[in-house]
Amino acid sequence: MLVTGIELLKKANEEGYAVGAFNTSNLEITQAIVEAAEEMRSPAIIQVSEGGLKYAGIETISAIVRTLATKASVPIALHLDHGTDFNNVMKCLRNGWTSVMMDASKLPLEKNIEVTKNVVTIAHGMGVSVEAEIGKIGGTEDNVTVDEREASMTDPDEAFKFAKETGVDYLAISIGTAHGPYKGEPKLDFDRLVKIKEMLKMPIVLHGASGVPEADIRKAVSLGVNKINIDTDIRQAFAARLRELLKNDEEVYDPRKILGPCKEAMKEVIKNKMRMFGSEGRA
Ligand code: G3H
Ligand code: 13P
Ligand code: ZN
Repeated sequence: MLVTGIELLKKANEEGYAVGAFNTSNLEITQAIVEAAEEMRSPAIIQVSEGGLKYAGIETISAIVRTLATKASVPIALHLDHGTDFNNVMKCLRNGWTSVMMDASKLPLEKNIEVTKNVVTIAHGMGVSVEAEIGKIGGTEDNVTVDEREASMTDPDEAFKFAKETGVDYLAISIGTAHGPYKGEPKLDFDRLVKIKEMLKMPIVLHGASGVPEADIRKAVSLGVNKINIDTDIRQAFAARLRELLKNDEEVYDPRKILGPCKEAMKEVIKNKMRMFGSEGRA
């Protein structure tokens, strides 16, 4: 069934586990997420970035996800990932999405508060949950110095003020993860996470979680992370299976025979994340 984001994350916060938020932009990735969730009896969040919206078209991707999520026997939310354009957020609300992220984290704090608060008022009026970000979660390709890295991390006092003034439902924080594939090992600032969770008590979101070692993920969940974003690991599983398949079979030409096994490879990654996040059996 299709549910709101806060419905999933309120329970996760109370019971101490995290719900995986997996990026999609087509039919096969969406099927992989829904099938994995059903097999694991796990809740799931299916999210689409602004790039994903542009690729698939909002009506098409809304129809695909809403249809599969509504039919599913486990609760699933449809979420806009990193909405930086107010108009995209409004389009998602009009197309029946159940969660949106207003990402104004590049703006100064007061402006981020103003923009986010406005979205919260509108979205809550329509029964839709809202995520926002404070601090900057960069890409692994960004060459940042140690000082820059520290400066981009979420300040607990600012996070407290932000949460209180915006009324946001869940908050993405920066504690050392980055989007895309890691070059070395990510180093997470768990003390910062503990401080933020103690002060805010609300569901906390971890972006850039692909490639983070299992022990770190489990620790982050035990310290209060309730939504974990995964995109790169799924993309890499898809691409690796596709390369292998085409290399081993030069005759295959039916897209179903090519994309079917790729879907299975993505499903395995997603199921493994659900185990790691503690969401297995929670639906
Ligand atoms: O946060 C980034 C997500 O992995 C989405 O990436 O903008 O390439 O769709 P994208
Ligand atoms: P990864 O690139 O680590 O999968 O992060 C995805 C993400 O944070 C989407 O918002
Ligand atoms: Zn992200």
